[in-house]
Amino acid sequence: MAISVNLIFFARNAIKKVIDRRDIIIVIDVLRFSSSVINAFANGAKEIIPTKTLSEAYKLRKQYPNYVLAGERKGLKPYRFDLGNSPLEFKESVIKGKKLIFTTTSGTQTLVSIKSDNWVFIGGFLNARTVGLKAYEMARKENVGICIILAGKKGAFSLEDFLGGGAIISNIPLNEINLSDIGIASLMAFKQVENSLFEIISLSEHAKELLKLGLENDIKFSCMLNCFEIAPIYRDKIIKII
Ligand code: MLT
Repeated sequence: MAISVNLIFFARNAIKKVIDRRDIIIVIDVLRFSSSVINAFANGAKEIIPTKTLSEAYKLRKQYPNYVLAGERKGLKPYRFDLGNSPLEFKESVIKGKKLIFTTTSGTQTLVSIKSDNWVFIGGFLNARTVGLKAYEMARKENVGICIILAGKKGAFSLEDFLGGGAIISNIPLNEINLSDIGIASLMAFKQVENSLFEIISLSEHAKELLKLGLENDIKFSCMLNCFEIAPIYRDKIIKII
């Protein structure tokens, strides 16, 4: 039977259905949560505990003083945090072999709102091929569908996550899946701009905010396609790589 592949904007009701169907989930927050997580693992991070609130993050840090505390609010590093949410801050010299506590405005909130034992991948342009193929392989094995959830900005549509969804779908064999209309639209949009991702994504609302903060290099980095063969998985409240 063909695997169903769907893409949804973050919405509580829709997520419940996805969980009940046992879909393999891929959460995308290209700017910048997904890209930071992928680069953290590329540079040797051991595991990441995502939290919804700053106070949970501070509390965990008290409990685990050796963990690296990272994240953002309004794009900036919160008070007493070790790192912000610039993917480029997650350098080997800082995080190799370390465990992290991570909280961001939309990315970690989307992730922790998925309260289930479904497989949940974290995807972006940086790992689009690997995460697409792994999710497909797993969906085949378990005979379930795939659902790509766009974190967007506090639940609103965001261009970069929509294009990221298309990038991931472009790696799944099309003749073997039932792709939803919105999935087709994201694939078509991605195909149209795949050679100018940075230029197009720089026009997006979120990128403009980051540009105002002088974070152009974060956008450039996050727009690099298929740089890492890393598929972070969120399970039992922890992000790890498999
Ligand atoms: C988020 O999760 O809202 C972000 O990754 C925002 C950002 O730091 O660019």
